[in-house]
Amino acid sequence: MHFIAMLAFNLPQPVTYNLLITLLSANLLILGLTILSVLFDQYLAAQSAREEILQESDKHFRMLIREMPVGVLLLTPDFKIIVSNQAAIALLGITDSQVLELGLVLQEDGTPFTPENLPMQQVLATCQPVHHVTIGINCALSQTPRWLLVNADPQLSAEGMVERIVCTFSNITPAKQAESALRLSEAREREKATQLSVALQKLKKTQAKLVQTEKMFSLGQLVAGVAHEINNPVNFIYGNLTYVSEYASNLLELVHLYQQHYPYPTPDIQQQTEAIELDFLKQDLPKLLESMKIGTERIRQIVLSLKNFSRYDEAEMKLVDIHQGIDNTLLILGHRLKAIGDNTRIEVIKDYGDLPFVECYPGQINQVFMNILSNGIDALEEARTKEQKTAEKKAQLSYQSDRQFPCIWIRTLWNSDLYSPQRAIDKRQPSPADYENETDSILISIADNGSGMTAAIRKQLFDPFFTTKSVGKGTGLGLAISYQIIVEKHG
Ligand SMILES: Nc1ncnc2c1ncn2[C@@H]1O[C@H](COP(=O)(O)OP(=O)(O)OP(=O)(O)O)[C@@H](O)[C@H]1O
Ligand SMILES: [Mg+2]
Repeated sequence: MHFIAMLAFNLPQPVTYNLLITLLSANLLILGLTILSVLFDQYLAAQSAREEILQESDKHFRMLIREMPVGVLLLTPDFKIIVSNQAAIALLGITDSQVLELGLVLQEDGTPFTPENLPMQQVLATCQPVHHVTIGINCALSQTPRWLLVNADPQLSAEGMVERIVCTFSNITPAKQAESALRLSEAREREKATQLSVALQKLKKTQAKLVQTEKMFSLGQLVAGVAHEINNPVNFIYGNLTYVSEYASNLLELVHLYQQHYPYPTPDIQQQTEAIELDFLKQDLPKLLESMKIGTERIRQIVLSLKNFSRYDEAEMKLVDIHQGIDNTLLILGHRLKAIGDNTRIEVIKDYGDLPFVECYPGQINQVFMNILSNGIDALEEARTKEQKTAEKKAQLSYQSDRQFPCIWIRTLWNSDLYSPQRAIDKRQPSPADYENETDSILISIADNGSGMTAAIRKQLFDPFFTTKSVGKGTGLGLAISYQIIVEKHG
């Protein structure tokens, strides 16, 4: 502006004005052009810088994709590969192919994928991303499949159509292998634990059986010993009793004859006759001898029962009278059934059916009767103790039935049409041929009116060492052994 003002001082007025306008316009034009040229240069420089940055960023991006440990594929909707990286090529084994072809693809459970369920197909069908799908593909180098975790994301057009699919693949084969190895080892451990628990159970059962067998064997031995010791003197008495009776009857006969032929004895004889009450003696002596005979017979019977009970030496199966086994056991338990002090006696109510001789291990069957009947007596004793503790109820025993005293019911049943009533009558020892067509079983039910059992106790009844009794009173083996004897040996 300073330069334009200087020119204006030296020129005439009209010319000066026009010239001035022209000069001014030219100057403005030159100035405009100069500014435009500067701006254009700047624009070009910025453009080139931007392109450089873009190229750099593209280079970085491609390098990043190439170096990624995760496989990346950019696919067209017909699965042509637009972009792939090293990891994708290596993981999928698609070296030369232009189109993604996976062959047989397995699901996580090992069954093949149906084509429409593959993640890329699902993206096409739903236009939604599909993430975290495990696929297994066959690998040329190994027998086992390669496991990949696949994410597939759609790139949508303005119209919402899938233009491209971005897929990523992570190799999870080591994790899968570790998982299946873990599962395998877990299964092995579980199997080992099961085997151990079975072995432990077996061991417990064997131990239980040994303890109980030992217990019963000792009892059997004791009973057999006592029976044997009593047997000899009793037989001795029993055998001589017949002679004693005969001699006594002869002597009494002789005295009778003397009295007939010598009706007036000397005063000494007279005195002795009165002292010994001869008339009473003559009447009483035969009765006394008879009762002695009955008594010794009873003892012989008991000895026989004791011997029968202790049949532990009998290892093989035998045809036996079950009722005899029960009666013998009751005899052994007799002292526990009797009334002692204030305690009422335990009533045993028998309802025996017509049972055939049963083929069984007699010693073991007696052991079962012993265990069950002992439990019944224990339960009744426990009920009695409880009642006695409750002083106000002492007079009224509340046994679990209409009977107001302790009872054990024993019932036996056999309802077979094949059973011959004749055999029940003559009680002959049957031969095995008699049983050829008879396959049914007998029922022996033993009940007591003690306090009974809760459902929880009933559940554990046959478990070895399960007992509700105090230490020293119960070992919890009785029913476990009985179960074994009935189910395993006679089932
Ligand atoms: N008649 C019964 N009434 C009530 N409870 C019973 C009867 N029989 C068995 N039980 C219950 O079942 C448990 C297990 O009986 P089991 O005969 O196996 O062992 P135990 O009698 O306790 O001991 P053990 O017979 O070895 O001396 C008993 O402790 C008791 O609780
Ligand atoms: Mg018991």
